[in-house]
Amino acid sequence: MNAALKKPQLRKSTGAVQKCIAGDCTAEYAINEPIYVCRKCGDPLEIDCRVEAFPDPLSLRQQWEARAASRDPRDRSGVWRYREVLPFNDNASIVTLFEGNTPIYDAPKCALYAGLSSLTLKHQGNNPTGSFKDTGMTTAVTQAGILEAQAVLCASTGNTAASLAAYAARANVKCAVLLPEGQISPAKLAQSMDYGAIIFEVEGNFDDCMRLTHELAEVPWIYIANSVNPFRIEGQKTVAYELMMQCDWRVPDHVVVPGGNMGNSSALGKGFDEMRRMKLIDRVPKLSVIQAEGAAPLAHLFAGFMKAGSTNEKLREAKIETVAHPRTLATAIKIGAPVSWKKALRAVIQSQGNIISVNEQEMADAKAMIGLEGIGCEPASAATVAGIKKLVAQNKIGRDESVVGILTGHVLKDPDYVGHYHRGMLSLDFDVEGQGEKKVPIAGGFRNPPVRVMATKHAIIESLQRER
Ligand code: F0G
Repeated sequence: MNAALKKPQLRKSTGAVQKCIAGDCTAEYAINEPIYVCRKCGDPLEIDCRVEAFPDPLSLRQQWEARAASRDPRDRSGVWRYREVLPFNDNASIVTLFEGNTPIYDAPKCALYAGLSSLTLKHQGNNPTGSFKDTGMTTAVTQAGILEAQAVLCASTGNTAASLAAYAARANVKCAVLLPEGQISPAKLAQSMDYGAIIFEVEGNFDDCMRLTHELAEVPWIYIANSVNPFRIEGQKTVAYELMMQCDWRVPDHVVVPGGNMGNSSALGKGFDEMRRMKLIDRVPKLSVIQAEGAAPLAHLFAGFMKAGSTNEKLREAKIETVAHPRTLATAIKIGAPVSWKKALRAVIQSQGNIISVNEQEMADAKAMIGLEGIGCEPASAATVAGIKKLVAQNKIGRDESVVGILTGHVLKDPDYVGHYHRGMLSLDFDVEGQGEKKVPIAGGFRNPPVRVMATKHAIIESLQRER
């Protein structure tokens, strides 16, 4: 049990290295060094895949398109299909559940709701465990295998845990997940139990779980699979590649995504930036991140940052004020101290996007609208459409601009929330110091509760004629 992770190799044949994201720190680390933050300055690391060195990037597009019809397991995965831009050797033994390949949908009702002439939604909830996390877990757990980790571990608001548990089960490696007790959806918890993870219900919130993860990262035989791990980001960045392929390489004006720990926005930003550097696209979409109002430390920082006028100098100096008691019914993004905020902020500023927050009512109604499209999603995902509506109202997105909203989790991830909304029983309950419990009711603007009916044909027909 006390075996350390495998010794670092020098560089892989891909030429990829891990490097510090701080502009003024030049630290680089070998690709297989088990390390999560820069040893010199403590900033996060990212993987440099040396994409500029590809001799003929445009031919990659055709290769990726052609793979859609192949039976090779690597081609059937919507992540490994893009393996040329991943930091793995060709002979790596990959752990896949055939993640990715998620659909894009026209969403005319949501477009009308948000004040746009059209809107496209990409549904990452159509992944094997029902969330976008799978696109990062396939690469993180593959890397855990390369490093011969004895156990993989993560802190989670539910989806990361479910995803890691599933991929660890496929890889036959011990898996531990740290979950804030009583604060995650029972459906997500059920997944982690079913996939055989060791589940620790921590007395505290997600940020406490994340702090423990940082401490446990020092244990040499444990491999951390949160998005501080740059191999997670590598898998998740392929969503940007897949999206561009689905858009026939026509760059949308905006891509909008919910933000919690900020791994997803960082990853999408990295994917688009790489494609621009490879000249696969001639510009990047404006990347905007939407947080829940009660858990929006980066939206606050961004607002101040914009007021002061953003410069690279200021970006380097930026400091986040964490939220000690984050509050939102969108438990997936109930995070007060996001670990990847620096990467996300950089991506948003470079693309000239925005970071804003939406309230509980806005999220709940947007979620119901997404449901009415026949698409559905979990509450955190709906921050996307709620945020798009707000950005349109603020003239930050033009009515006729092309917009892609990323939905991050499946509607069945949080059935209690859905039922409560439609039955008019949804409320945000929290303690106010010295004043006891406060209850903020959320109105069901688009309620659709079940209809009680007598067990006769006549009663059903009569009711059908009355209902919309
Ligand atoms: N949407 C869903 C459904 C999520 O589960 C998460 C994060 C996010 C959005 C935010 O993405 O953290 O990359 O900014 N869930 C993590 C988890 C924290 O543990 O499942 P992010």
